[in-house]
Amino acid sequence: MSIENLKEKEFLIKINEAKTLAEIESLKSEIFGKNGLMTHEFKKLGSLPEEKRKDFAKKLNELKSNFINLIDDKIFEFENKEIENKLKQEKVDITLPIRPHQRGKIHPVSQVIDEISSIFSEIGFSVAEGPDVETEYNNFTALNTPDHHPARDMHDTFYLDKNKRLLLRTHTSPVQIRTMMSQKPPFKIIVPGRTYRCDSDQTHAPMFHQLEGLHIDKNITMGHLKGCLNHFIKEFFEIKNVKMRFRPSHFPFTEPSAEVDIGYKIENGRIVVGEGDKWLEILGCGMVHPNVLKNVKVNNKKYKGFAFGIGIDRLAMLKYGINDLRAFFETDYRWLSHFGFDPLDVPTNYRGLSK
Ligand code: DAH
Repeated sequence: MSIENLKEKEFLIKINEAKTLAEIESLKSEIFGKNGLMTHEFKKLGSLPEEKRKDFAKKLNELKSNFINLIDDKIFEFENKEIENKLKQEKVDITLPIRPHQRGKIHPVSQVIDEISSIFSEIGFSVAEGPDVETEYNNFTALNTPDHHPARDMHDTFYLDKNKRLLLRTHTSPVQIRTMMSQKPPFKIIVPGRTYRCDSDQTHAPMFHQLEGLHIDKNITMGHLKGCLNHFIKEFFEIKNVKMRFRPSHFPFTEPSAEVDIGYKIENGRIVVGEGDKWLEILGCGMVHPNVLKNVKVNNKKYKGFAFGIGIDRLAMLKYGINDLRAFFETDYRWLSHFGFDPLDVPTNYRGLSK
């Protein structure tokens, strides 16, 4: 007894000549379906005399994998063609002239990131980046925040797997770890980026922006931290003097830790930053904890330094008089054309940041 030779050839030809994915799918079920060719042939096995069974089964299995390979190749070919066609159809002609009434604007958050980067790059910081999806180790453990540390609960973390090994970073601080693990000291970086926490109201969004700062070298002190932040606030708000206070605080990755408030007042319904008797918290900072340096294999006897973390959205709201954080993320064109910035007007320190 032999495989129905004619049919076998007929199917091989049919597969080769198939023109659509649907045709291949239907051939597949004609071969492997309940009443398909292969199913039919396999059923014959039981009634064969023993000496013939082995040979026949071998042949059948060869034919089976032959069919499967051919069908898979064809499916792959059709799927690729489909993607190519889709890409061709969805092609955008970027050579079209701009529509004068719809000029794009730079989002205030992007503008503020550019402004801050410009200020810090003038005093020797470079910009580092890291991924939004982080490991639990970089986001917490390496930052001296072990399992069951209460600070973990405060972060309302979005975990991405059952074992809580991957997450959406809750702050930009893990980029401290990435940088220090992959480079050699000294370090002098800022890290703007997206951060995520499961929280949402007028002043909290599940996705928001932070800017991390890290300066590690020999002989860095809290005095350098104060000087650096004072310089930054004055440049950012474009004011000559700023009232600023350091309030003792706690972060697992810094010791000592502080939160920084700046003075402000309300004048004619507008907020004036830098003076007045009201205080507004704008950032967290401190001297990098020796354990963090140890975790990234930086000699903590020789090197020390400071770090800080700033909420970018909040600074943007303050500087540009925006009072609801949620407006940032609504992609409302009217809002953007009012609060947005001219794309050609890149912020620089010498020409003025926001003018
Ligand atoms: N990562 C902290 C947070 O999101 C902010 C922060 C505080 C960053 C102190 C720092 C720091 O680098 O030194 O709440």
